[in-house]
Amino acid sequence: MSRVGTLYGLGVGPGDPELITVKAFRVLKESPVIAYPKKRSGSKSYALQITEAYVNTQEKEMLGLVFPMTKDKVTLERQWAKTVETVWEQLSQGRDVAFVTEGDPMLYSTFIHMMRLMKELHPEVTVKSVPGISSVTAVASQLGLPLADGDEQTAIIPATEDYEAMRKAIEEHDCVIFIKVAKVLDMMLMILRDLQLLDNAAVVTKATSSEEMIWRDVTELEGAELEYLTLMVVRK
Ligand SMILES: C[S@@+](CC[C@H](N)C(=O)[O-])C[C@H]1O[C@@H](n2cnc3c(N)ncnc32)[C@H](O)[C@@H]1O
Repeated sequence: MSRVGTLYGLGVGPGDPELITVKAFRVLKESPVIAYPKKRSGSKSYALQITEAYVNTQEKEMLGLVFPMTKDKVTLERQWAKTVETVWEQLSQGRDVAFVTEGDPMLYSTFIHMMRLMKELHPEVTVKSVPGISSVTAVASQLGLPLADGDEQTAIIPATEDYEAMRKAIEEHDCVIFIKVAKVLDMMLMILRDLQLLDNAAVVTKATSSEEMIWRDVTELEGAELEYLTLMVVRK
């Protein structure tokens, strides 16, 4: 068999196109195929928007990947296997594929599942990750707020509807970054109020991008519906 292409998980950073690494830039330029998460809504993926600052999409094979949303395990596995095969089709022809992910590919990214399944289904593929600046660290800079200093302990927590677990996370750490927070914002505000920590929190949407929004007074967000790309930092 001829050479098999390399699959790259390519971190393209949090939004500002300048916050991409030199290595990610090179891999983008050199890869004939760019894979990106394709949204069902038809709107453009955030990672793709960042990528377009550097890539002429007419000159590349643009591979929009639809990721399964179902909770049914069998359907999920089947659909995922299909998505992996779409990428394998390119790799098997010796073409490198750069799978662009917002932030860092190894932090709560669909690339993680892609990497696992590709290694399982096609162990001959070399899979590499090119780290990116995560939204978590980018937000700290935007807020001018250190995430950790000295002996402090910091946690990254995907926010859920579990009041007790979210409250405990805040109680047990000096600083907590809640990702995927938009869907439980009101409950998070309730926790902050109960702990008298409303003044210790900030919320950021699309950090570092031209559409960035920052709320330092989180009480303004009561009842608000924010975008998926929103996180909350609580620092005691
Ligand atoms: C699936 S995780 C992806 C994290 C990503 N791999 C990273 O390193 O930043 C998606 C969550 O990350 C957070 N997020 C990602 N990019 C963001 C941005 N530019 N601004 C604010 N939050 C962001 C949001 O909380 C969102 O719900």
